[in-house]
Amino acid sequence: MKAAIHGEELRIGLPDLVAVARLGAAIARRLEAGDAVLLQGDLGAGKTTLARAILQALGHEGETPSPTFTLLQSYALSLPVAHLDLYRLKRPEEIEELGLDDVLADGAALIEWPEQAEDYMPEDALHVALTSAPRAATLTGGGRWPTLIPGIAEDA
Ligand SMILES: Nc1ncnc2c1ncn2[C@@H]1O[C@H](COP(=O)(O)OP(=O)(O)OP(=O)(O)O)[C@@H](O)[C@H]1O
Ligand SMILES: [Mg+2]
Repeated sequence: MKAAIHGEELRIGLPDLVAVARLGAAIARRLEAGDAVLLQGDLGAGKTTLARAILQALGHEGETPSPTFTLLQSYALSLPVAHLDLYRLKRPEEIEELGLDDVLADGAALIEWPEQAEDYMPEDALHVALTSAPRAATLTGGGRWPTLIPGIAEDA
């Protein structure tokens, strides 16, 4: 896997779905209750695909419907996980009704389009910025993520 570390920032090429699965597993392995993973990138950049890879690595089997219209989809795994897609959020305040705080109290959140409610995103989140041309992910983060990102680079 081609990975380059610049300070606390990791850029990793994602040429195919196998690469996405490896990155998803590397992130999943380090996820704890209270963690938010912010999945940024244009339409089709691969946000849902990486969220699904993380869910599968955490043991989810079966359907992973995109929360395009429901905004939030919950998964009762060994670590409870919520998958959110904020694209259709009308106002940032609306996120309070989704119960993100409750999710983070005992589980993790994978959040597409976090910029829709920027002010409500946890400061210690892992940021994953995805691009489709070329397909790649850039990882940065607050909290303990700067110490975890080098390990993700090794695993991915
Ligand atoms: N690294 C990759 N290599 C090859 N194909 C990929 C990769 N990542 C995503 N894809 C494919 O690109 C398409 C769009 O991916 P995806 O739905 O994950 O994008 P998205 O960022 O969630 O888009 P949206 O903004 O509409 O939610 C899917 O068909 C997916 O299989
Ligand atoms: Mg999506």
